[in-house]
Amino acid sequence: MTAAPDRKRAAILISGRGSNMAALIEAAKAPAYPASIALVISNNPEAAGLGHARAEGIPTVALSHKNFPDRESFDRAVHAELEEKAIDLVALAGFMRVLSPWFCRQWEGRLLNIHPSLLPKFKGVDTHRRALEAGEAEHGCTVHVVTPDLDDGPIILQARVPVLPDDTTDSLAARVLAEEHRIYPLALAKAAGG
Ligand code: GRF
Repeated sequence: MTAAPDRKRAAILISGRGSNMAALIEAAKAPAYPASIALVISNNPEAAGLGHARAEGIPTVALSHKNFPDRESFDRAVHAELEEKAIDLVALAGFMRVLSPWFCRQWEGRLLNIHPSLLPKFKGVDTHRRALEAGEAEHGCTVHVVTPDLDDGPIILQARVPVLPDDTTDSLAARVLAEEHRIYPLALAKAAGG
């Protein structure tokens, strides 16, 4: 395979496990993938995903939001790290911080998020429990462009899964997560122009 000539430089922002991050790193190993993963930033220095990224040889930065007086000053520090690495695109992957309108403006159209529901349904947290309680026949996940409004913004890709009669939040979350890992690399490629 020939390497894509002008790969976009992508950064991934995480807070925890980082399984979506791992799926993006894996996809970006293909030479023809239109983005490279050039940086991983976590607001949680204990995030398990940081170890995985380091093991893959990807530069990582741990920036605890607790060391900043307010949301925007944390976001400005994240922005400085992204600029320093000449990042083109940012993918939020289990990043559990709401980003300031200032940050969203800086990265307008270049900031993606994955959310475990069929947006616009179930914005916010606890999506699997809420989908079960609502008696939904279908559930899923969405990759969207981030705007200052939480879990809003133009949808890039969605994947649907059935809700089965014996589902628990865990079984449903696992079925959705497998789809997250499938569509996030496709959506990032699409955003990177591939
Ligand atoms: C995923 O379900 C993602 O959609 C949500 O948080 C979870 C993060 O999981 N925003 P991981 O850290 O990618 O494993």
